[in-house]
Amino acid sequence: MKRKVTIVGSGNVGATTAHWIVDKELADVVLIDIVDGVPQGKALDLLQSGPIEGFDCGVVGTNKYEDTSDSDIVIITAGLPRKPGMSRDDLLTKNYEIVKSVTEQIVQYSPQSILIIVSNPLDAMVQTAYRISGFPKNRVIGMAGILDSARFRTFISQELDVSVENIHAFVLGGHGDTMVPLPRYSTVSGIPITDLLSSEKIDALVKRTANGGAEIVGLLKTGSAFYAPSAAVTEMVEAIFKDKKKILPCAAFLEGEYGINGLFVGVPVKLGKNGIEEIIQIPLQPDEEKALEKSAAAVKELVEIIKV
Ligand code: LAC
Repeated sequence: MKRKVTIVGSGNVGATTAHWIVDKELADVVLIDIVDGVPQGKALDLLQSGPIEGFDCGVVGTNKYEDTSDSDIVIITAGLPRKPGMSRDDLLTKNYEIVKSVTEQIVQYSPQSILIIVSNPLDAMVQTAYRISGFPKNRVIGMAGILDSARFRTFISQELDVSVENIHAFVLGGHGDTMVPLPRYSTVSGIPITDLLSSEKIDALVKRTANGGAEIVGLLKTGSAFYAPSAAVTEMVEAIFKDKKKILPCAAFLEGEYGINGLFVGVPVKLGKNGIEEIIQIPLQPDEEKALEKSAAAVKELVEIIKV
């Protein structure tokens, strides 16, 4: 049986996610947007690449939530993107309204789905989807840590001139300026980068990672990053559909883990067919713990403004 993924928002992130998903033949895709014609046009165009690329997935574009019914996974990318100089937090109230109304419709048509949220400010938007959907916490997940870690891995790979495949990295915390890259747990073929790079170099890479989204917004001028964000979402979809039990950093609802309660924050989780199957607790040193606390406090501030 073919699986079904709905992607809400047919902008760059949504459309590129559809592209990766069908290219890997993970599922049939429904692309939904409020703009008439864009999801339909992009879906038809993508579908017509099938004979060339050799995928047999359906791709449908629509403005009607009826067409999304019984999706296995729903990816919410809808919302305003950042403009140069804006922080992700500047999008808070506008995107809250969008994510709230999208979630209400999704719950109606796909009550058993797993939600993956991409809209910014990420952690507050996942919390919105969680509260509005009433779904269990394993079925509401935020995409951020994989993207932030991929940026860190890219910079480490460039610095050391080694394959990206050899590099693992962990970035925890909220998807914002306070994110917490963990150099001690970032390795090249198992060797911590703290053994390979000076602390000044690592600090510079950490800074560039935390500023990674803004760097791209600054270059693009209109819109934000989409290739790496959509690849990150696709890794999550694949881990869930293939029940891989893959450990990945994602925004998860914490209830006491890492000393954080009642808040979505980026931590390592195990992704399998049930969504988040486990929250992995790794021992942190006092300075890392403090940085994570600070990051969680920044998420809490936003969540309190929108009262979710
Ligand atoms: C970024 C946006 C998607 O980090 O938050 O590029």
